[in-house]
Amino acid sequence: PENVGVLAMEMYFPKRCVSQTEMETFDGVSAGKYTIGLGQEKMAFIDDREDIQSICLTAVKSLMEKHNISYTDIGRLEVGTETIIDKSKSVKTCLMTLFLEHGNTEIEGIDTTNACYGGFAAFSNAVNWVESSSWDGRFAIVVAGDLALYASGAARPTSGAGVVAMLVGKDAPIVVERGLRGTHMEHAYDFYKPDMHSEYPVVDGKFSNTCYLRAFDSCYNRYMARLAKTEEKEKPNMDDIDYVVCHSPYAKLVNKSFARASYNDFIRDKDNEKYAALKPFEEMSYADSLENKDLERALMGLTKSGYAQKVGPTAYAPKQIGNMYTAAVWAGLASLISEVDSETLQNKRIMLYSYGSGLAASMISFRVRSSTEELKTKLNLRQRLEERTHSKPEDFAAAMKIRENTHNACDMIPTGDLENIATGTYYIEKIDDKWRRFYKRK
Ligand code: ACO
Repeated sequence: PENVGVLAMEMYFPKRCVSQTEMETFDGVSAGKYTIGLGQEKMAFIDDREDIQSICLTAVKSLMEKHNISYTDIGRLEVGTETIIDKSKSVKTCLMTLFLEHGNTEIEGIDTTNACYGGFAAFSNAVNWVESSSWDGRFAIVVAGDLALYASGAARPTSGAGVVAMLVGKDAPIVVERGLRGTHMEHAYDFYKPDMHSEYPVVDGKFSNTCYLRAFDSCYNRYMARLAKTEEKEKPNMDDIDYVVCHSPYAKLVNKSFARASYNDFIRDKDNEKYAALKPFEEMSYADSLENKDLERALMGLTKSGYAQKVGPTAYAPKQIGNMYTAAVWAGLASLISEVDSETLQNKRIMLYSYGSGLAASMISFRVRSSTEELKTKLNLRQRLEERTHSKPEDFAAAMKIRENTHNACDMIPTGDLENIATGTYYIEKIDDKWRRFYKRK
């Protein structure tokens, strides 16, 4: 099959959000710390009425309905998540309830976990399946979703929640380019979840940022080396890329990684006039380049207009929602499709960088082959994001408290108010004494 890629996309995010400006006041930090320092505008959150299974049920159901997809046309369903509610049973098996109603129980694929990377791994599995001898001619669905939660403290303003569900198959409008992907993996304790009694990660924030940027450099250079070969270019660089989607824990880090790309381009092409502002940093060691604030400033200045054009449209939704772990990078792609009209996107190359702590990272690119108009209309992101309920930081803190109190509980009925759930959303009706979860759709 040719032109394998994304045929349809749906995104689910909670009905409630909180303003980062109000969070700054509530947390007693200096004004601008979350909005300018982290680059975030709003943060989505949920209480104990929803869990990873309910939010994925909502996203898949909505994808099927909006795009009028037949349940029997799906041959593979992959889930990427790091929100674990069971050490054995997958989220995928729960999603099978939607397909059983239509008599389809023959669907391959299961959950994949490694921090924020699971969604990319799931996507990669789906693309590989369509391109392989195991393919049975049907579509694949990829679900990437998480509740991104942090204990109160410096990391909490980078919380969020969301799911992206995608239909993958041949003859897609957004096609995965072959032979260009770059990957970087290693062992690191930058962010991990060793405590089964808590939903919160153990995180070394500064170290995780450095890990993210190092992995970005590595993937970018591998990607560019492959591009040099396939397109017989001596010194490929950011000019060969039209849009850049990066995993977004918070927007500022995405801005910094886009700036790093030009540092890598400069190292490959030191005498090129367009990098003149970077000449003073020519001899700097790689380790220093990751820490040096003067270099960072020079890079941010050099790439300012490039950022606005190539990254700006991909950052819109993640800034409005916050981190979504596995879903964050795909929310960036959905954001791009929503913010840029289909005509402008035609034949453009979109680079996508997925990072998961621990650590695993990959970079691929897409080429837009045909109209994305229908995807944009059905995503309807701007309107849906604007229609959300704006809650107070106190409500956000209370919702986190409810989740802490009911984590791992059984024989319980969630106390979260159904008013906070939008129509068409699945929610937890009860968890029985054997920890079996029952869902309803509002
Ligand atoms: N106005 C403008 N900017 C400000 C202000 C202000 N009033 N106050 C602070 N800042 C800036 C700082 O200068 C800093 O900028 P810099 O990054 O360019 O140096 C930035 O805001 C962050 O402030 P810090 O005090 O350096 O960091 P903080 O203690 O707030 O922690 C961190 C930030 C590490 C990102 C934390 O939120 C965290 O741990 N998040 C979770 C981990 C994470 O997201 N890692 C990313 C990759 S891994 C993953 O995806 C989970």
